[in-house]
Amino acid sequence: MEAGSALDPIPLRGFKDFYQYAGTTRVISGRALLSSTGFELQKEGARRVFVVTDGVIRGTGLVDKVEAGVTDGGLEVVGVFDDVPQDSSTQVCDVCAAAAKEAGADSFLAVGGGSVMDTAKVADAVFTHGVDARDQEGFFLMPREDDGVGRPLDMAPLACIPTTAGTGSEVSMAAVIKVPDENVKIEIADFPLFPRLAILDPETTRTLPPSVAAATGMDAMTHAIEGYVSVDWSPHQDARSLQALRMIRDNLERAVQRGEEDEEARGNMLIAANLAISIALGSVHAMSHPAGAHFGVPHGVANAIHLPHVIRHNAAGSPDIADRYREIGELFDISEPEIGDALAAHITSLVERLGLPTRLSQAGVPEDGIPALVEGAMGDGTTLLNPREMAEEDYAELYRAAL
Ligand SMILES: [Fe+2]
Repeated sequence: MEAGSALDPIPLRGFKDFYQYAGTTRVISGRALLSSTGFELQKEGARRVFVVTDGVIRGTGLVDKVEAGVTDGGLEVVGVFDDVPQDSSTQVCDVCAAAAKEAGADSFLAVGGGSVMDTAKVADAVFTHGVDARDQEGFFLMPREDDGVGRPLDMAPLACIPTTAGTGSEVSMAAVIKVPDENVKIEIADFPLFPRLAILDPETTRTLPPSVAAATGMDAMTHAIEGYVSVDWSPHQDARSLQALRMIRDNLERAVQRGEEDEEARGNMLIAANLAISIALGSVHAMSHPAGAHFGVPHGVANAIHLPHVIRHNAAGSPDIADRYREIGELFDISEPEIGDALAAHITSLVERLGLPTRLSQAGVPEDGIPALVEGAMGDGTTLLNPREMAEEDYAELYRAAL
């Protein structure tokens, strides 16, 4: 029998038949780290650095500070690409890679949120291997030695400086990128996509608008919760998820409400997002990817809307799944027997306090958009990792409930 079918669910506890865990990114975290960007990048073999960012971040002056930090370390900034849009595309990655090639770069430095970091990752693959971004889709399919079965080929060094506390892309081996003509977001995941270096400094989120801090924080919370209940769970990821949730519980609202003056909350949220990231996700992400691809709903906002509905649905699927949510509930002092309803209600009230929309219609999704969203969710890779098997009718019901 195939693992994951309705009659033979993958156990959510006990000793797993198989899992693998990797986290190969060097993380440095603390205050006033931007001035030593060059010093740190040099240790990763970078000399001629190509900076990837967006116009908004560049406008804050943050990129200037980072550039000064690169040159202070004796390295050269050979170009800055600041054209990354909110939902970046394969086409942007190809253009970015060509610009880096033209500039004679030997390394990448991403300064931005998830879209910027994912663009830099995929652009690096295009730059290094001379491939098209669109052809990179899939898990563990990047070029390898020995006719594709050996060691993955190295990419040019990539360092990330996240400017939101959310995606965790700075320490993940995955990138999610939109294909403009197809209205889909593709996932690309393989070991070489782990950035070599992530620099976490609360200076980078000092002027983050509260709505963005809230949405990206909810993305992090969703990663932690989905990673914990995924069929692809692991004790390694559990440890990260639970600590991330404690830190989100204690810092997210502070960071959103007191942003600029609460450096500790902002710094802790950067670390929490970093701990929360997992490539073992589930139906919240499966539902949010098409909401972004079709209707431009920001990723964190879509997750905040979908998360309570998926929790309710999953927790009703089996006592084992409910038990996983119960363990999460303990961190929030939730112990009601109907754990799915109680945890979902807790999250909805958090989302309201954060000032985010709780309904898809508030985020611009029309009712007649649901069939396209259902199709997108069914086709999304994260559907297979959800603890409860999902059918089209399930997604249609969840989208309707979230509308
Ligand atoms: Fe996410």
